[in-house]
Amino acid sequence: MNAVRIGLLGLGTVGGGTLDLLARNGDEIARRAGRPLRVTHASVRNPERARGLPADIALHTDPFEVVRQPDVDIVAELIGGIEPARELVLAAIGAGKHVVTANKALIAHHGNAIFEAARRAGVAVGFEAAVAGGIPIIKTLREGLAGNRIDGIAGIINGTSNYILTQMRDAGLDFATALADAQRLGYAEADPGFDIDGVDAAHKLSILAAIAFGMPLCFGEVHVEGIRDLSAVDVDYAGQLGYRLKLLGIARRGAQGVQLRVHPTLLPQRHLLAQVDGVINAVLVDSDALGQSLYYGAGAGAGPTASAVVADLIDIARALTIDAEHRVPYLAFHHDRLQALPVQPIDAVETAFYLRLTALDRPGVLADVTRILADQQISIEAILQKEPAPAASHVPVILLTHKVPERALRDAIARIEALPSIDGRVVSLRVDHLEH
Ligand code: NDP
Ligand code: HSE
Repeated sequence: MNAVRIGLLGLGTVGGGTLDLLARNGDEIARRAGRPLRVTHASVRNPERARGLPADIALHTDPFEVVRQPDVDIVAELIGGIEPARELVLAAIGAGKHVVTANKALIAHHGNAIFEAARRAGVAVGFEAAVAGGIPIIKTLREGLAGNRIDGIAGIINGTSNYILTQMRDAGLDFATALADAQRLGYAEADPGFDIDGVDAAHKLSILAAIAFGMPLCFGEVHVEGIRDLSAVDVDYAGQLGYRLKLLGIARRGAQGVQLRVHPTLLPQRHLLAQVDGVINAVLVDSDALGQSLYYGAGAGAGPTASAVVADLIDIARALTIDAEHRVPYLAFHHDRLQALPVQPIDAVETAFYLRLTALDRPGVLADVTRILADQQISIEAILQKEPAPAASHVPVILLTHKVPERALRDAIARIEALPSIDGRVVSLRVDHLEH
């Protein structure tokens, strides 16, 4: 049978990994797809980086050249960023070519328009690699759990930040060194601010929520906090209290609407997600028929991401002869059955909290703090006063609260910070046991 012809845009970590995987497992892939997958064209900005490219692949420095080639059936966009990726994807769709992309920023921001254009053109768009690297979580939600009502997703979905947190905790590395390691290993985004500020996780969460709940993509409504300002002392105190700090993406739907939030979270050490370390990602899904299920695997890097890209290429090769309207819908639900759902403002979300304050070591100070919390109906689960440093006038005090609406907690913190006996800012981190 004729080969399916692929145009690869980008030969960096993911593009290079994809090329290697297609070469290494070419025979098995052809047996699975029913026909060989052959890269006919590729593009890079700097041709020096494409040295060693097999002679039967035409190399371009203008990616639009690849999109225009008649001997390209599927365009794999592995460049990243919004432009020119968006224009390239739309040009490929306009030319009637199928598209595979690993670009979560592009899908989160422009997925609704891209899927609409693709639907009208009758072409497929695969984006498995955009979420959780090699874990087939899109396929799981779209197909494996298609009979379930899905009400919750909680995941470690940024490998770089999980790698940094693990290295800070286990190897005692400082933040900057751990981030530099993640960049060297090819895990980080071109702008690593996306990783450490939670933006990359929010891109992925918006994609997961759309597919799980049947709503259009709404990245702009995700509440986002990253790990940039986390202090090693809180990683340490969390451990002493039986918790681990993880950057979680949480999507839940309930009577009040949908919660979409990315933030550092204290998880009980015994929770399976708390055991997920390094660049590994994991996604916990709450669905009504299956119950809780957990998907675990490498969330970044050349091989794992190529695994997802190639799976999409094979899926498209298999589906080439299927009518467009009978393919699996891009966002799991048929395009005319997606429903916008109200997203709860973060102020209204209820969670438990870890608070760390620096208090004057004097009688009555804690009583002032607990009175403020009581005024706001905030109940305390545990309180811990640490040893002062030698000759220090202030001591660190750690409080764990029961669940409280965010607004009440923010009001209480403002009043606590105004007390003359409290030094500096109160550190607040959410605590979640991820129970149903
Ligand atoms: P790299 O930076 O390693 O590679 C990017 C490639 O695209 C390079 O070949 C680069 O060419 C080319 N390129 C960059 N900008 C342009 C441009 N403006 N025009 C034409 N070509 C360009 O990125 P990654 O492989 O890490 O990431 C690619 C995509 O995959 C991104 O969307 C990323 O978010 C996503 N992703 C990455 C993962 C990872 O672990 N790295 C995991 C999952 C998804 P040159 O080298 O010549 O500059
Ligand atoms: N920068 C991303 C991460 C790559 O660290 O998770 C995988 O999407």
